[in-house]
Amino acid sequence: MSVNHTLLQRRYQTMGHSSPLFYKQPLHLVRGEGVWLFDNEGQRYLDVYNNVPHVGHCNPRVVEALHRQASTLNTHTRYLNENVVQYIERLTATFDEGLSMAMLTCTGSEANELALRMARHCTGGEGVIVTEAAYHGNTSAVAEIGTGFMPEAKNSKRVKVFSIPDSYRGLAGVSQDDLADVYAAQVQQAIDEFEAEGIKLAGMLVCPDFANEGLLNVPKGFMEKATAMVRQAGGVLIADEVQAGFGRSGHHFWAHQQYDITPDIVTMGKPMGNGHPLAGVVARPDMIEEFTREAMYFNTFGGNPVSAAVGMAVLDSLEQDQLLQNAISTGDYVVRGLKKLQHKYELIGDIRSLGMFFAVELVSDRQQKTPAPEQAEQIMNLMKQQGVLISRIGIYDNILKLRPPMPFQPEHADLLLETLDRVFQQVCQLEALG
Ligand SMILES: Cc1ncc(COP(=O)(O)O)c(C=O)c1O
Repeated sequence: MSVNHTLLQRRYQTMGHSSPLFYKQPLHLVRGEGVWLFDNEGQRYLDVYNNVPHVGHCNPRVVEALHRQASTLNTHTRYLNENVVQYIERLTATFDEGLSMAMLTCTGSEANELALRMARHCTGGEGVIVTEAAYHGNTSAVAEIGTGFMPEAKNSKRVKVFSIPDSYRGLAGVSQDDLADVYAAQVQQAIDEFEAEGIKLAGMLVCPDFANEGLLNVPKGFMEKATAMVRQAGGVLIADEVQAGFGRSGHHFWAHQQYDITPDIVTMGKPMGNGHPLAGVVARPDMIEEFTREAMYFNTFGGNPVSAAVGMAVLDSLEQDQLLQNAISTGDYVVRGLKKLQHKYELIGDIRSLGMFFAVELVSDRQQKTPAPEQAEQIMNLMKQQGVLISRIGIYDNILKLRPPMPFQPEHADLLLETLDRVFQQVCQLEALG
C-alpha cells in the first residue's frame, strides 16, 4: 500500500470522510518555495491557485520576521506593543481617509462575524443583503449569510439575496445598458421586503470582486447604486476583501477602490499573513468606538506581536518587490495568452481578470452559454497531472480559477499557457471521440 493511500485512510479515520480535499487523487505536499510546490515524491507543481502565500510560499522576508519576533516576544493583545500599533498605522494608510481604525482577528470568518456584530450594533438593524451564491466563512452568524452552500442560510429571516451581478450571462430580456439598474432594483426589493416584514436593515455584505461567484465583470454603476440604496435605508456597506484584497488587482490595494464608493467596514484575511493566521476589520472610527464602548472585544491571538511582524513583512514584500506593478504587467501577459486560447477553443466562453486573478468560463455552446462543469473538472485534474495547480468556481462550477501567488512571472505564465493548451487539446479530442 502506498504512503499516500495509508495517509488518506488515517485522515479519514481522524478527520472524517467529508473533510474537503482537492483532486480525485489528493496531493501530498511537503514543501513550497515562491510559486512552486513539491509533493512527497519530489514532483514539482506550478501554483496557479493559492492566494494565501500572497508574496510567495515560504517568503524569506516573512519567515525571517516571524522567527525574529517569535524569538523575542509573543503575548496576547492586552499589552502595549510598538509593532502592533505600527502595523495598524501602516495597514490603514492603504485605505481612504474615512477608514482609519482596525481590529485584528485570526481568520476571515471571525472578521466577518465581527463586522456583522458591529453593523448590527451601530445600525440597530438585523437584516443583511448578500448575493445568491455567497460564501463568507464558517461561524454561526456568517454561515447564516452563506447562501452558496450553508444550510443555516436557507431559512434565515435575517438574510435576503440579489442575483449575482454578471454582465457575461446577464438577465433574460434585459439589455447590457440596463443591467446595473435591474440588479440594483433587486437590492431595493430586498430592502423593501425586510421593511414589509418588520426587519430593520443592518447592511449589505459583498466581496467587491464577486470572486467566489465567478470573478464577475460587474455592470458599471451597480455597486454605487446599490450602496446608495442600502445607506438610504439606514444600512452600511461591508466589503469582504478576504480574498480580493492586498493589491491582487494591481491597480488598487483594495478591490472596492475600483468603484466610486468607500465602504463603512472592510474585512480581510487570507493573504494578510502569507499563511500565518492574521485577519481583521478596518472600519469607520466612529463605528469601532461605538461598538467597543458597549461590546468589549478581546481576541487572545488576533494581532499579537508575531502576527504584526508577519503582516508588516507582507506589506514590505508587496512594496519592495513591486508586486502590484507585477500583477498588472504579468496579469496582462496572461490575459493575452488566454485570449489566444479562446480563439483556438470553442469551449472558452469568457475570460475575465483583475490583475493577478483570472477566470476562464467554460461553455459547451457559446451562443447558449451552456455551462461545461465536467470539462472544467477534467481540465483541473489533467492540469494537476501535468504539474500545474488550478481550481474552479462559479454557481455552475464551470469557471477555471487562476489565482497564483503575486510573484508569478511571465516565464511561469508561459508554462501555465502551454499546459492549458495541451490539456484543452486532450479534452477536446476526448470529446470528439464521444
Ligand atoms: C470571500 C471570503 N470571505 C471569507 C472567507 C473566510 O475566511 P477564513 O477561511 O479565513 O475564515 C473566505 C474563505 O474562503 C472567503 O473566500
